[in-house]
Amino acid sequence: VMRIIISSDHADIALRQQVAAHVEARGHTVTDIGPTTAESTDYPKHGEAAARQVVAGEADLGIIMCGTGQGIMMAANKVAGIRCGVCGDTFSARMIRAHNNANMLALGARVTGPALVFDIVDAFLETEFEGGRHGKRVDMITAIEG
Ligand code: RB5
Repeated sequence: VMRIIISSDHADIALRQQVAAHVEARGHTVTDIGPTTAESTDYPKHGEAAARQVVAGEADLGIIMCGTGQGIMMAANKVAGIRCGVCGDTFSARMIRAHNNANMLALGARVTGPALVFDIVDAFLETEFEGGRHGKRVDMITAIEG
């Protein structure tokens, strides 16, 4: 059982809530920090808020969403200690855990349909970091943070 923090901008509140329910149904503990209305909002603050909870250790992994997933991913990756990738396929979702030890997943709500989104989320959550030679490379990413 992992603690999963979830957030998005306004691009698809309903899909985010479905993802939250999907993750809960898998037995994980979900904290959905909103927003809860479709009113236009700014993805950087939602990406940052989720990212800060991950680096603070209040969540094990984060799942964030905006229209493309790209903007909110960029914001999350500005928080030291965050490794977040946008995924539109399950192979990448497994690999960002297995090789990059990603601690956040970004999804494009206007790009990827709900059924695939759920599979991507499962692939992300079910894959563990392989360590070994990949550990050194992840450490090199962290070193760039200074
Ligand atoms: C909002 O219209 C849109 O720009 C945002 O959801 C996201 O796609 C940014 O990367």
